[in-house]
Amino acid sequence: MGIHAEPGEREVTADALRDAFRAVYGTDPEGVWAAPGRVNLIGEHTDYNDGFVMPFALPHTTIAAVSRRDDGLLRLHSASGDVDGAVVELYVGELHPDAPAQGWAAYPAAVFWALRDAGHAVGGADIHYESTVPTGAGLSSSAALEVVTALALNDLYDLGLEGWRLARLCQRAENVYVGAPTGIMDQTASACCTAGHALFLDTRDLSQRQIPVDLAAQGLRLLVVDTQVKHAHSEGEYGKRRAGCEAAADALEVDALRDVPFEGLDDALARLDDEELVRLTRHVVTEDHRVEQVARLAGDGDFRALGPVLTEGHASLRDDFRISCPELDLVVSAANDSGALGSRMTGGGFGGSAIVLVEDAAAHKVEEAVLAAFASAGFRTPRVFSAVPSEGARRLA
Ligand code: GLA
Repeated sequence: MGIHAEPGEREVTADALRDAFRAVYGTDPEGVWAAPGRVNLIGEHTDYNDGFVMPFALPHTTIAAVSRRDDGLLRLHSASGDVDGAVVELYVGELHPDAPAQGWAAYPAAVFWALRDAGHAVGGADIHYESTVPTGAGLSSSAALEVVTALALNDLYDLGLEGWRLARLCQRAENVYVGAPTGIMDQTASACCTAGHALFLDTRDLSQRQIPVDLAAQGLRLLVVDTQVKHAHSEGEYGKRRAGCEAAADALEVDALRDVPFEGLDDALARLDDEELVRLTRHVVTEDHRVEQVARLAGDGDFRALGPVLTEGHASLRDDFRISCPELDLVVSAANDSGALGSRMTGGGFGGSAIVLVEDAAAHKVEEAVLAAFASAGFRTPRVFSAVPSEGARRLA
């Protein structure tokens, strides 16, 4: 089976991965697994506030050919994008958050650490990865790398862990071993999404609903615009927003901002005397409300009505949460001014991607308008593609 690749990129297949594994390690892998990146339709920076999110899986996927080893050695090799071809060698018994592996290898190493730390008897392995998930684009390339690793180990070691449990372990891997204070959305999206659906996830108890999203049937399309502005969550701003939200929840004497009801928002804001906490709280509470709105509209099949809600979400992230950037704002204004139904930044912010909801018939015009706006602003040419809700993590061979 082929894995999605952009036009002009080589297609990645399970057979090709087996061949590449053999070329690197000289033996056949025991199996091949895949885990996708994601876009988030709505629900940004709500996942560490116990709130709601609604992502779907992209066709862009990270795949891994894996064999177990019985000597505790972990060998990692990737042939993706910006990674050099060296095999990284680590010993699973020596993995520790105090001295994490460097670069991309930190993510798979983190998963080995988290599984072992949770008491699962996971030994060494040889792994070869390839990926079509753009890195640093806000499309969860790290979660795809973590989840594909966790799923392979879950199968090979018969751990019997469900998708949401693997997602939790991957989140812990990223929080504790890699040191990035992210929420649970990306890993759950990669592990639990299904083709043709967005995942409505309550991040408090991880209860889930699969909501059918067939935009093509409605004559609609969702464009993803990767601004190519790179972001890095572990660098400060993400953690500051998270700490601010926790401070606001403390000040309001609730467990998490999710507990502030939308109807009681004005009263809650009046109780906060710090302007920054007011803005953070307003974003999270209105964003949770927008996720519920979008889930309801999608459930009714009223996808055109999503547009204004997406655009409102962007304004909230730009003005209240303050995590947009000129390139993301330009996607939104150029797209909406040229006839898009609505648009917003997606993911952690400070760069990465935006999503644009358009009528099929207007897609080309809107894309051209965004490209022209970027050219006249002197910004790097963005990468634009249509996103269809795709399969979550799975074994390929
Ligand atoms: C990143 C994090 C997620 C989530 C989003 C913002 O993608 O990994 O946990 O917080 O940012 O919604």
